[in-house]
Amino acid sequence: MTEPSFLGEFSQGNGQLAVENPATGEVIARIKSYDLDEIRALIETADRARHAWAARTAKDRANILRGWFNLVMQNQSALAELVTAECGKPLAESMGEVAYGAAFIEWFAEEAKRTYGETVPSFAPDKRILTIKQPVGTCAAITPWNFPIAMVTRKVAPALAAGCSIILKPAELTPLSALALEQLALEAGVPPEIFKVVPVTDPKPVGELFCSDPLIRKLSFTGSTAVGKILMRQSAQNVTKLSLELGGNAPFIVFDDADIDSAIEGAIASKFRNAGQTCVCANRFLVQQGVAAEFTAKLADRVGALKVAAGTEAGSQIGPLINRPGHDKVARLVSDALERGAKAAVGGAASDKGTLFYQPTVLTGVQSDMEIVSTEVFGPVAPIMTFADESEAIALANDTPYGLAAYFYTRDIGRAWRVMEALEYGMVAVNDGILSSEVAPFGGIKQSGLGREGSKHGIDEYLELKYCLMSGLA
Ligand code: SIN
Repeated sequence: MTEPSFLGEFSQGNGQLAVENPATGEVIARIKSYDLDEIRALIETADRARHAWAARTAKDRANILRGWFNLVMQNQSALAELVTAECGKPLAESMGEVAYGAAFIEWFAEEAKRTYGETVPSFAPDKRILTIKQPVGTCAAITPWNFPIAMVTRKVAPALAAGCSIILKPAELTPLSALALEQLALEAGVPPEIFKVVPVTDPKPVGELFCSDPLIRKLSFTGSTAVGKILMRQSAQNVTKLSLELGGNAPFIVFDDADIDSAIEGAIASKFRNAGQTCVCANRFLVQQGVAAEFTAKLADRVGALKVAAGTEAGSQIGPLINRPGHDKVARLVSDALERGAKAAVGGAASDKGTLFYQPTVLTGVQSDMEIVSTEVFGPVAPIMTFADESEAIALANDTPYGLAAYFYTRDIGRAWRVMEALEYGMVAVNDGILSSEVAPFGGIKQSGLGREGSKHGIDEYLELKYCLMSGLA
């Protein structure tokens, strides 16, 4: 069976929202931009329809989600083509993202059936205590451009599994993948009123609407800490439940006793995935003095060999950055570090592959007061700092308002536990550079956000816990 080309379909439109391919600058689609009245009406429709969806059995919802998972996997190549076209990542990574995104649908299809309540030993002989979990109600989601499939499914699948309805505003830069997912969800039997994707040209008023409309009981947002804070303030008016997956500043620590070759593999995977544009990408490398020269030389060799090319080109490993502001930010952070004494072991400038490409870069001699150390880089740049001992590594790693992901390499089991416990982060990988999985709780502490996505905890974000006291039983 040949997969349909979503890209071919979307390129026919003539709406107000233009979507560009970041590798070429070409407009690949013009789609409808929803206005606020339309979105308000869709929220009302979703809110009316949610009761019937919640009343279906969990198994029924699970079967529909399972059908959606199957359709996503059957369309893996067509969806990957779309991801690469609108967000720029290499095709192999896009194929991986589709599988990663589909895994959330499969996982929450299974979890739909396991939203157990409990009975609690009573405080009085004539009373019984129990809890049940019920859907939150109508939800809203705002998703980012860097994972246009997986960040949609990570929010929508648990919402639907829990029995909620959900209105989703995708990133303005990458709305097509979300629209394709919506088509497949409808095909799988998700009622159209229950899940609606609403691309817009101007996101700000939609965020305000999601926070002010009393029908929206929950908002899930992935994006910058700055926008997360605005949404938090706005959502105070209705005390809307919030999940926030915000910025990070991940340390990647290499101790003297680490397996250096394995640390290099982890560094490449963690730092250069999606050209460094993930919120869990290693942002700062902290390397113990005794292995700094070896680690730096090996990393520079590997980074210098990464293939920079449009995501559609065979063997591409580093695609373009998403847009001009993203590219300028990376260029500015690197120039600032170089002007202040850092050295480029490899890279250090824009790439000639196209206007939004940047050379994979390794910087040495980085100091903690350089802006690149405290700012989320979101680009293919590995700044290396050195440290003397374990306590200095922990102090440097925790010296940030963010607390999303952290990575470290050691072969000492005692140190592995000590450092894992001391790192103030929601997620810590020991001897690994990739920790994302549908089975594990993804989320941050401090200014990196609230709540967890994926895992058995992810569905709780879309459920309310009700305590019921039954009295008069004597
Ligand atoms: C993100 O960058 O927001 C998500 C990354 C991931 O799920 O691995």
